[in-house]
Amino acid sequence: MTTIKRIAILTSGGDAPGMNAAIRSVVLAAHHFHIDVIGFYHGYNGLVCAESINQTKLLTLNDVNNIIHRGGTILKSARCSQMLTESGLKQAAHTLVSENIDALVVVGGDGSFNGLLALKEYWQGQLIGVPGTIDNDLDGTDFTIGFTTAVNTAIEAIDKIRDTADAFERIFIVELMGRHSGHITFNVGIACGAEQVLSFENFSVEDKQIKLQQLADEIKTAQENRHSSYIIVIAENLWPGGAIELAKELKQAASIDCTACVLGHIQRGGSPVAKDRLLATKMGVAAVQALVDGKSNIMIAEQNNAISHIELEQAVKHHKVVSQQLVDAQENILALTAQNQY
Ligand code: F6P
Repeated sequence: MTTIKRIAILTSGGDAPGMNAAIRSVVLAAHHFHIDVIGFYHGYNGLVCAESINQTKLLTLNDVNNIIHRGGTILKSARCSQMLTESGLKQAAHTLVSENIDALVVVGGDGSFNGLLALKEYWQGQLIGVPGTIDNDLDGTDFTIGFTTAVNTAIEAIDKIRDTADAFERIFIVELMGRHSGHITFNVGIACGAEQVLSFENFSVEDKQIKLQQLADEIKTAQENRHSSYIIVIAENLWPGGAIELAKELKQAASIDCTACVLGHIQRGGSPVAKDRLLATKMGVAAVQALVDGKSNIMIAEQNNAISHIELEQAVKHHKVVSQQLVDAQENILALTAQNQY
């Protein structure tokens, strides 16, 4: 047990639905232990630029009232390149010391956790990461806060696209977020019954022209056999130029008309679904409990429905891979579809 008195909390990197629920949970749990929670605004910028006005706030129970259902983050978020520099890290450490902070909780993704690991060399306080990113790419936790909401948002959008695509018997290419991971793309693609799921795990753009021709052939065969819509979901950063470029290249190479749709930041917004609210609440409580127990340099995780702790180094070492079962499921569906031509 430690006797911490002041926890700092910030949200960093791409915001994710459920970050507010996590802030709320940390404040409520800390209140139970008579610990103050100081919110720092604008990600790590709040630590690095603490001299500028309005970068911190003592978070009261009132401040976190009625935020569990809100997307975004009441603390704002940002990426902070200064955390990659020695002077930025020293400044962040200086702020934590001068604000009498005993522990820092960061809700974010792998970039944010790399910031925590770098800060470790300059500041002696306890450090905890809470995984909040729609990308779900952190190793050691089954889910990150915000992923399930983002998947549901994208599914809702593509279901609507399907209606209009069906009406016109059109081909759509829908680009999904995830940075360099295909968790969103695979989950959304399968749940929407997409005819093609193109992601890092099952597709490489080496031999681009051959891949383009194969794709064109598959689309043409499907269109000849059944007059219906055809939806391709594609992970961002996979095809050079993304969905828009792929649509252009299919037109040039095979005279196939596709409509490209980049879902973009709509996937980051909105009210968190129940699963994300619950995950964020459990993780926020677990973060405070871990601090009270004297733990540091860990990410709060959930594995098989049980909260656990993962070394921060491990969480950022590798990107979590998409389950092979999902990848295989899509391959099997494709093969069955091709056989039956339904
Ligand atoms: O990490 C979350 C995420 O939304 C990624 O999926 C995406 O690649 C990136 O952030 C987009 O970042 P920005 O909002 O800075 O363009």
